[in-house]
Amino acid sequence: MKIIKLSAIDSTNNYLKNLSKEKLVKDGCIVVARQQKKGRGQMNNTWQSQEGKSLTFSMFKRFDCLKIEEQSAITFAVSLGVQLALKKMNIPAVRVKWPNDIMSYNKKIAGILIESNLQKDRIVASVIGIGVNVNETEFTNLPHASSIKLENGNAFDLEEVLHCIAEAVLFQLQRIEKKEVDLLKNEYETVLFKKNNVSVFQKKTGNPFNGIIRGVSKSGELLLENEDEQLEKFELKEIKMLL
Ligand code: BTN
Repeated sequence: MKIIKLSAIDSTNNYLKNLSKEKLVKDGCIVVARQQKKGRGQMNNTWQSQEGKSLTFSMFKRFDCLKIEEQSAITFAVSLGVQLALKKMNIPAVRVKWPNDIMSYNKKIAGILIESNLQKDRIVASVIGIGVNVNETEFTNLPHASSIKLENGNAFDLEEVLHCIAEAVLFQLQRIEKKEVDLLKNEYETVLFKKNNVSVFQKKTGNPFNGIIRGVSKSGELLLENEDEQLEKFELKEIKMLL
């Protein structure tokens, strides 16, 4: 595995995206930073991390023949890889909160930001950013955040966590090229947070309502059973799950 180690950077995703514009970056190349000064999260949010305690890294992955409509396969593979790696490290009750928040019980312990490079109707490469709360013990103004140390009880070596997660993610990503996308989707569905349980959701407007997560569509939309027992599909921007 080729790993570029940085002491500080704005965002490992930005760094890797710029690097890939300037020169040929090897498939599977990883950039890890001890400190991220402007970490980015999903939907233009920021990602907070603590120097030397959090793991912040990005991986570059090329795809030979991946159609845009298959892009959710990347989300399935990466989320599943992170989930399996953390489970292997004895973190309890690790689940994927749709689409790609990694939870232990009902606290978020890791986040994923995938940014893809498109050419015509294909995805040619993605920068896959992963932030893991490893040895933090306090989170200011983040009541739903936790770390793997808090959930497991032991401190972890950042480098070991990096290797464990990166290997698991790369393995799952390779399954996309082996045409195992349907299997990936099925396995992703088995680790979905609150699957088959009644949970509370909110659309862009309107009151909170009860629903049951039943799975995801091929293109990654959430399949939610409503109170009339009808299955509805939602895209990320359309709905949020209230904890
Ligand atoms: C989220 O849950 O909102 C996604 C968080 C992704 C954070 C990681 S940390 C490494 C990489 N660099 C970034 O700027 N963001 C991702």
